[in-house]
Amino acid sequence: MNFFTLSAFMVFFSIGAEETCTKITENLHYSCMGRNLSYIPLSIPSSVQKLDFSFNVLKFLQKTVFPVLSFLQLLDLSRCYIKGIENDAFYNVQNLTTLILTGNPITHIGPGCFNFLRNIQRLMLVDVGLTSLQLHMNNLTKLQELKVGTNNIQFMTLPSFMSTFKDFSLLDLHANNISIIKKNHTIVLREMSRNITLILSRNPLLHIEPGAFKEMYLRELDIRSSFVSVAVQKVGLEALCGLYVKRLIFGKFWDDYRIYLPDTDFLDGLCSIYFQEVYYFMKDTPNQQVNIFRCMINATNVSVTGVLIPNGAVMPFHEIKELNLISSRLDILPGKQISHLHTLEKLVITHNIKVLGAESLVDIPKLQYIDLSSNQMTWYFGCCPNLLNGTPQIRYLNLSLNSHVSLSERGFEGLDSLEILDFHHTRVAGMGYHSYLSNLKYLRYLDVSYSSITFCNIYCFYGLSSLNVLKIAGNNFQSDVSRYIFNNLTSLEHLDMSFCRIVELHPSSFKDLQRLQLLNLSGNKLMILDFLAYSNLNKLTSVYVAKNSITSIPLNVLQKLPTNLSVFDLSSNPIDCSCSQTDLILWIIENQKVLKEPNDIICTMLSPNSDFRAIDFDIDSCVHNKRITIILLLCFLTVIVILSIIVYRFQFYLKYCCILLRGYRSARQQECSYDAFVIFSSYDEVWVMNELVENLQNGFPPIQLCLHMRDFQAGKSIASNIIDEGIMGSHKFIVVVSQHFIDSAWCRFEFELAQSWFVMERNANIIIIILEDVEEKKLKKVIDLHKHLKKNTYLKWSRETLSSMRFWIRLRKAVIAGKQKYCI
Ligand SMILES: *[C@@H]1O[C@H](CO)[C@@H](O)[C@H](O)[C@H]1NC(C)=O
Ligand SMILES: *[C@@H]1O[C@H](CO)[C@@H](O)[C@H](O)[C@H]1NC(C)=O
Ligand SMILES: *[C@@H]1O[C@H](CO)[C@@H](O)[C@H](O)[C@H]1NC(C)=O
Ligand SMILES: *[C@@H]1O[C@H](CO)[C@@H](O)[C@H](O)[C@H]1NC(C)=O
Ligand SMILES: *[C@@H]1O[C@H](CO)[C@@H](O)[C@H](O)[C@H]1NC(C)=O
Ligand SMILES: *[C@@H]1O[C@H](CO)[C@@H](O)[C@H](O)[C@H]1NC(C)=O
Ligand SMILES: *[C@@H]1O[C@H](CO)[C@@H](O)[C@H](O)[C@H]1NC(C)=O
Ligand SMILES: *[C@@H]1O[C@H](CO)[C@@H](O)[C@H](O)[C@H]1NC(C)=O
Repeated sequence: MNFFTLSAFMVFFSIGAEETCTKITENLHYSCMGRNLSYIPLSIPSSVQKLDFSFNVLKFLQKTVFPVLSFLQLLDLSRCYIKGIENDAFYNVQNLTTLILTGNPITHIGPGCFNFLRNIQRLMLVDVGLTSLQLHMNNLTKLQELKVGTNNIQFMTLPSFMSTFKDFSLLDLHANNISIIKKNHTIVLREMSRNITLILSRNPLLHIEPGAFKEMYLRELDIRSSFVSVAVQKVGLEALCGLYVKRLIFGKFWDDYRIYLPDTDFLDGLCSIYFQEVYYFMKDTPNQQVNIFRCMINATNVSVTGVLIPNGAVMPFHEIKELNLISSRLDILPGKQISHLHTLEKLVITHNIKVLGAESLVDIPKLQYIDLSSNQMTWYFGCCPNLLNGTPQIRYLNLSLNSHVSLSERGFEGLDSLEILDFHHTRVAGMGYHSYLSNLKYLRYLDVSYSSITFCNIYCFYGLSSLNVLKIAGNNFQSDVSRYIFNNLTSLEHLDMSFCRIVELHPSSFKDLQRLQLLNLSGNKLMILDFLAYSNLNKLTSVYVAKNSITSIPLNVLQKLPTNLSVFDLSSNPIDCSCSQTDLILWIIENQKVLKEPNDIICTMLSPNSDFRAIDFDIDSCVHNKRITIILLLCFLTVIVILSIIVYRFQFYLKYCCILLRGYRSARQQECSYDAFVIFSSYDEVWVMNELVENLQNGFPPIQLCLHMRDFQAGKSIASNIIDEGIMGSHKFIVVVSQHFIDSAWCRFEFELAQSWFVMERNANIIIIILEDVEEKKLKKVIDLHKHLKKNTYLKWSRETLSSMRFWIRLRKAVIAGKQKYCI
């Protein structure tokens, strides 16, 4: 296949490669990891600098595999099933500085395959089945790191031309099959720069020819788990005599289960090696008491992990700067041995079983850093001036993850330089009652989380003017101490007071914390967050209030939240998702980017099974419901108004209906006591009394008239009176029509009542007296009166004597007529 057909083939197959590879940085960095690709997609721009092509299928590398990528610096071809690399394979990617070929089953490497990689600095040939370091790398003069771990290399002999590689600094031969190291295997290494890290860990070393490393300078030598047995290690260390190494790492890996049961002198070989830093890893308990530090006394850094250190072991270090005793099964703080080490700057004693802090660390004038964490230590003697005495430069003190520390009245006297103080998960007695920290004006970091403290004194943090980070989670506050305790902490940027059982925070609690960026209040019992809005926390970017009792946040608080808020954790609160909380829910939906775990903001409904995510709440349904409610309300109001109008307009008809019903019910039991019921306006009372009553009642035969002002019973309602006395108790009705009559609603009402009664019973008669002329139009106002006047005969009143005489006669006749008929 020639180049052009191959190119065409590649074009054909690279359609859609856009999605195949991930752009990490436009034009510069792409990842095609794990796409099962058998070619480099054409979508990769020629300007690419980093290309991760791991976990694909390339099989054979040849010149045509790579397009011209002259800016490519890093190429990762891990686990691409590459079996062979042809000569000039990297011709098109000549400027590579890092080439990773890890995990390929390479069986064939062409002698000229790396020829063009003149700029290569890091070459990784891990787990590729290499059996020898004799690679054709002549032209790779800029090589710095060669990683050939996990292969089958038996000899660490480097090709001779590498002695000219000036920058070479790392040879990683871990997990190979090197069992023998002879003098002539190390010739090239010895000739190279003095800055090489040599990793020989996990090789089955059996024999090192004494002197193989003599006069060799290394920056680091790692020989962890590199000897087949402890006896071989003892001899092997001796054979390293004359080696100068800055950092020596030996011992075992944690997953190395071979048992080393050493003799007392098993570390004597170390005395003939020149080293500055030594890292010794163990995990077996030697059955003899060995002075493991004997050959380490000239080191500046000593770190031993998992090595049993007997109580009272001597540590006569001359130049020690850093001492780490980790998992050393100490049961007492080695105060006596470590005291008076005038060069010591950093001390780390951690992960021991149960340390009794009976001994002080005295007179270590340069000590700056002390980590005594994770020791289950108990210190009853008034930390910290008693624990540390004559250590004026201490900046870092870590006493976390211990059992108990009591603070003394002297507080932190003599430790004025402290910058970082960590007591977390250690019971600290006395902290909450006094301002013990007041001299620590440089303190930047204070962690007393879960330290069983009850803050009772508002001056606990008095004087901590440099404090940046304060972690007091899992403690308690007495009454309203939290309102004042943070006063004056003007440098504070990070405050963690989660799980402190806080129910309420006063807005002025944080009034001085203008630099605060992170506030963690998770796991408290807060119900309202008003303090966030009214505390002037301008710089606040992260707020954690998860696991509180917040059911709602009012709109005015949401609007006043700090402007630069980028993380707001509201998860696991019993958010009340009802239509009255739409402000909060809308805010949650709109601010999902700011909210941490927006999916964990759950709406708590009455029944626990119906919980759902707040972001799923259907706000539209609320708007809809609201609309419907408003519409219904409007309809209701309209109906009420219309009804009121109707009732007002037809009030008399309604009353009339009531009365009709009532009257009808009691009709039969009534006896007539009057001859006629006079319906008239009270304005016409004078006429009625003077004329009508005079002429009818006082004439002969006397006619009994029912007059409302005279005959109606007191204490009965007018309507009842009209029915009982007037209508039911009278044979006839005399209606006195006048202007006032027509104007009076009551008169009209009485008339209509009588009229209908008349219609109903067809017995009673209505006699109409026209007292004065009334306009027709007005007459019409009184329903049917007009009609009535036309149909029935009526009497017209006149003052003339003659006509008046006639009038009275006719009226009397009309009233008496039919009197013998039964009363209704
Ligand atoms: C990878 O690609 C080859 C063809 O190039 C195909 O046969 C194989 O099934 C693919 N494997 C996967 C896991 O897609
Ligand atoms: C690489 O080195 C060889 C000698 O081993 C030399 O012949 C060749 O020209 C060099 N190649 C390049 C590209 O420099
Ligand atoms: C390791 O080297 C020894 C010879 O030193 C050889 O016998 C053994 O087979 C090699 N092991 C492997 C896994 O190649
Ligand atoms: C030694 O090598 C390391 C990198 O491995 C480098 O950072 C350091 O500068 C080098 N020192 C000298 C003196 O070359
Ligand atoms: C420590 O250094 C001194 C001289 O500086 C030397 O005499 C002594 O042998 C050295 N001890 C060890 C164990 O290297
Ligand atoms: C103190 O030590 C503990 C345990 O080793 C560690 O987790 C913590 O980060 C240390 N504190 C500081 C401030 O470094
Ligand atoms: C804060 O500072 C003022 C003035 O320096 C002081 O009066 C007050 O007691 C201090 N309060 C606290 C709680 O430290
Ligand atoms: C908010 O952030 C912007 C840019 O990150 C910054 O310029 C501004 O000063 C910040 N505001 C406050 C109040 O800190």
